[in-house]
Amino acid sequence: MGKTTREIVGEKVDAIIEELNKTLADEWLAYMQYTLAASLVTAPQVEKELKEIAAEELEHAEELTARIVQLGGKPLVDPKQFYEKTNCGYEVPTEDNIKVLKDAISAEGCAIEAYDKVSKLTKDSDPVTYQLMLHILEEEEEHEEKFETLLEYLSRCQKTG
Ligand SMILES: [Fe+2]
Ligand SMILES: [Fe+2]
Repeated sequence: MGKTTREIVGEKVDAIIEELNKTLADEWLAYMQYTLAASLVTAPQVEKELKEIAAEELEHAEELTARIVQLGGKPLVDPKQFYEKTNCGYEVPTEDNIKVLKDAISAEGCAIEAYDKVSKLTKDSDPVTYQLMLHILEEEEEHEEKFETLLEYLSRCQKTG
């Protein structure tokens, strides 16, 4: 629990921890949503993409947890809290490839907005969290684009097939 880190970050530290916990809830829910969806969908490309991206959401959860601890905060450890704190919610997965992809695109769009918000909150007060926000934001933007590309491809296949 970094005493000096807390001092450097200053008065915003508790507000930053609160926001990081909200995004932590989002990451766990996205990880669950994509992992469970991967075992239900019928298209192998969708399954593969969901699994790869779920692995990155799990990494994000680990990175956020580590930073919350460094800031002297308590990371969420009870799944009940995920629903209470989440910005982006949870869509129950189905076997419908198109719906799963649309739900994933919504989740990524929400995550991009959340990390953009926390990056602005930390920009001048907490450079280490700011760097982490930019790193995660970059990956969320990639996720959104990958899911969009796959949705376009599948939609085209359905029309022509
Ligand atoms: Fe993520
Ligand atoms: Fe993502």
